[in-house]
Amino acid sequence: MDRFVVQGGARLEGEVAVSGAKNSALPALAACLLTSEPVTLRRIPDVRDTRTMMKLLHHNGAAVETGGGVVRVTAEAIQNPEAPYEIVKTMRASSLVLGPLVARTGRARVSLPGGCAIGARPINLHTSGLERLGARIRQEHGYIVAEAPQGLKGGVVYFDRITVTGTEDLLMAAVLAEGETVLKNAAREPEVADLAALLNKMGARIQGAGTSTIRVQGVRELHGADHAIIPDRIEAGTFLIAGAITGGDVTVTRCVPEHVSALVAKLQQAGLEIDETGPDALRVRPRSRLRSVDVTTEEYPGFATDLQAQYMALMTQAEGISLITETIFENRFMHALELSRMGANIRIEGRQAIVAGPSQLTGAAVIASDLRASASLVLAGLVARGETVVDRIYHIERGYENIEEKLAALGAQIRRESPG
Ligand code: EPU
Repeated sequence: MDRFVVQGGARLEGEVAVSGAKNSALPALAACLLTSEPVTLRRIPDVRDTRTMMKLLHHNGAAVETGGGVVRVTAEAIQNPEAPYEIVKTMRASSLVLGPLVARTGRARVSLPGGCAIGARPINLHTSGLERLGARIRQEHGYIVAEAPQGLKGGVVYFDRITVTGTEDLLMAAVLAEGETVLKNAAREPEVADLAALLNKMGARIQGAGTSTIRVQGVRELHGADHAIIPDRIEAGTFLIAGAITGGDVTVTRCVPEHVSALVAKLQQAGLEIDETGPDALRVRPRSRLRSVDVTTEEYPGFATDLQAQYMALMTQAEGISLITETIFENRFMHALELSRMGANIRIEGRQAIVAGPSQLTGAAVIASDLRASASLVLAGLVARGETVVDRIYHIERGYENIEEKLAALGAQIRRESPG
């Protein structure tokens, strides 16, 4: 299993371009199942999760061609409308094929995801939404089976709680349902709006994506399209924090500044200077000593849970006490234990982490438990004294494209090791 060896102390400087958003690429790939015509997707990041999703599409019967960040998917016929456990257990977002498969073929069989390092991750809101659209749902042998032999019918779906992939799944089901569907309390994440933009290019009739009420007029069929995925706001945020934690001067390019505005506001309060140096570029550098600033994770446009771990690494270097409250997932503080092993002063009380800083971190052997936790350990390694070895980096490879090369280009001392 590969690991990263990080030598702390280097100040990061220069420009780094973000890749396409993993969490936009995954639903976009699933959406290709909705048409028999070829769909061309650009800026798909070459990360483990997108490769897994392509494997799943192939399993369903689609032809997938890749090259240079461009992926062309042709799902002429769906031979196998199912997501097997072997694939779902490595990537929970596989449940994104549930909506498209049942909409296109009238049937889907998708393995239940089970627990994961950050929390329970149920898909009850996906299934109850599909029931509202007329699907019959049953559970057997660890699988959800959804059936709508006569096709789905539009309806009103109210989400009990905001769910990103649940909204995306239902959106993909509703585009081929008969009549109008209204999704209420829908997720407002930019990735949902990006999916709707792709679906509309494919001939869907969706209005209101990016707000909490989405209206869909069902159409009989969709056609091929060409679409470029939005930039990855979590990767952009991670590099802003990398610049901030090392006291460096980093410009993050090819990003959408508005998508990271909740983080930018916190970084400014914490004493960083953030400038929009272009329509798609943000520069971070120190303005004053780093101060602690509390944060509570929320659905978009609030502070992203996917940046909480990286932000916690930053707060270990800030003067004072910061209170970090996680409201989206119940168990997303695994990184705190590893950061403490590096010398951070963090106490966990339920959904809150209390970070007292600044602490001089020292390099240690640490283990990544999930994607964003591993990013936070790499960030901590950048400022720790000595060498940090981050093990199990397959987690980080699920969602960050070439992270070590990008960090090294900014001056970080980071290398990959593949033990014998
Ligand atoms: N939830 C339910 N029932 C459901 C669905 C969700 O109770 O049927 C709960 C979850 O347990 C959680 C909350 O609702 O407590 C929100 O979960 P959500 O469904 O929004 O999460 P997700 O769609 O499974 C996506 C991202 C995650 C990101 C979350 C929250 C993708 C592929 N994944 O997951 O990204 O953390 O939204 O913003 O879009 C990551 O990239 O590292 C990552 C984990």
